Amino acid sequence: MPPTTQELAAFCKKKGFIYPSSEIYGGMAGFYDYGHLGTKLKHNFENLWRKYFLGLNDNYFEIDAATIMPEKVFEASGHLKNFIDPLVKCSKCDYHERADHLLARILNKRFEGLAPGEYTKLIQKNKIHCPQCKSALQPVSIHSLMFPVQLGTGAQTAYPRGETAQSAFVNFKLQYELQRKKLPLGLAIIGKAYRNEISPRNFVLRQREFTQAELQIFFNPATINEHPDFQSIKDVKLRTLLVEDRSKNKVVERTAQELLKAGLPKFYVYHLAKIQEFYLAQLRIPAEKFRLYQLNDQEKAFYNKYHFDLEIDLQEHGFTEVGGLHYRTDHDLSGHQKISKQNMEVMEEGSTQRFIPHVLELSFGVDRHLYALLDLAYHDDKQRGNVVLKLPAQLAPFYAAVFPLVKNKEEVAKAAEEVYKSLKNSSVCFYDDGGSVGRRYARADEIGVRYCITIDFDTLNDHAVTIRDRETTKQERVLISRLADRLRELSRSF
Ligand code: GLY
Repeated sequence: MPPTTQELAAFCKKKGFIYPSSEIYGGMAGFYDYGHLGTKLKHNFENLWRKYFLGLNDNYFEIDAATIMPEKVFEASGHLKNFIDPLVKCSKCDYHERADHLLARILNKRFEGLAPGEYTKLIQKNKIHCPQCKSALQPVSIHSLMFPVQLGTGAQTAYPRGETAQSAFVNFKLQYELQRKKLPLGLAIIGKAYRNEISPRNFVLRQREFTQAELQIFFNPATINEHPDFQSIKDVKLRTLLVEDRSKNKVVERTAQELLKAGLPKFYVYHLAKIQEFYLAQLRIPAEKFRLYQLNDQEKAFYNKYHFDLEIDLQEHGFTEVGGLHYRTDHDLSGHQKISKQNMEVMEEGSTQRFIPHVLELSFGVDRHLYALLDLAYHDDKQRGNVVLKLPAQLAPFYAAVFPLVKNKEEVAKAAEEVYKSLKNSSVCFYDDGGSVGRRYARADEIGVRYCITIDFDTLNDHAVTIRDRETTKQERVLISRLADRLRELSRSF
């Protein structure tokens, strides 16, 4: 059976990947900690993301920034006014939920971006009562996702950022001056963001504190219909579900070229293609599990002109948003110019025109990606009698493990330790001599180790070891002197 969210969460806790935070005090809804394995997996994802997206242009850079920001930042960005969810409460018991989630669950349809009154009408029209006690529901109200903190003695209100994006926007002007005063300029941030969710749920899919990896690309709006590298992706088939495909609810493969005809700008479509490549070629998500889902005017985030969700098909939830490609126009920089009174305009070399750059945002929820990667990788292998975590080798916490086959024989243990020492600088590996070799294989499978290397009595004579592949359990015998090269060779074939 495929894992439910509950099973996946239990597995992640048992193996020490991810588990509720502050659990010795009963935990707190919407907050999770990453153990040693989860942290390694997270770093591997983040490093792959960095390498790929910063590699798109020499003028893209990573920055790091404070996560708590002044109130005026979110006044300028519109978050204080617009970063809200519709809240429905029971008139009798303590039930409360996002009204759009309640309606989606009951009516099996997506509801986003409606006014509170419209949600109330839908609830009444469909005769929906409290799911807990069946009493009448209260009219839908507004709930802010931003939660204030009081600084110092309480004189100043500030907010943990609701998205990393605002940190890039407040850094833009300085970075533009310090870098080459050239557009497009990319500012990437991998860091924490905070949302006071009404009902955090589904493990790390909806948390109150989470990690985002976001790249803000500042560009000249006059160039939105250009991209110097468009030729290279023009025939790539993109797995899209446009607004017009909704009634069929079916992914349509369209070339990048065809998407231009559908009215999307070249600069935007180029990045859709590059994002899809990241999912299919880097994260190794099977194509049929990935889609680019276009949001309509009602559903788009308040700052977006064009908005596609990046979705992965999860076992319990179906296609789920894990990120987005957002054309934010000059919404943010203009907002910051107005409130901060700092000029956000630039003048490109060789031009006399001053303008406020526009922003294309590539936004990824890191924890949601880890959920998706674990969900896709999780295989309950009945024959082996254990879970096999089929993570791509470049993401798995460990690439290899070294086992002495018999642990009480000093020469074998010594040979195994030598093999481990010789490998540990070139491969991410660990040494395990605990329990039967079957148990050790099972433990390695469960955390996604791709190759287990065993050292046995024969090793003492033939100076060779056995490599066992997680995917097939097939084994091959390799000379110790060739082992590091062979592991490198194998990694190149992924
Ligand atoms: N920065 C976009 C988002 O948080 O969804």
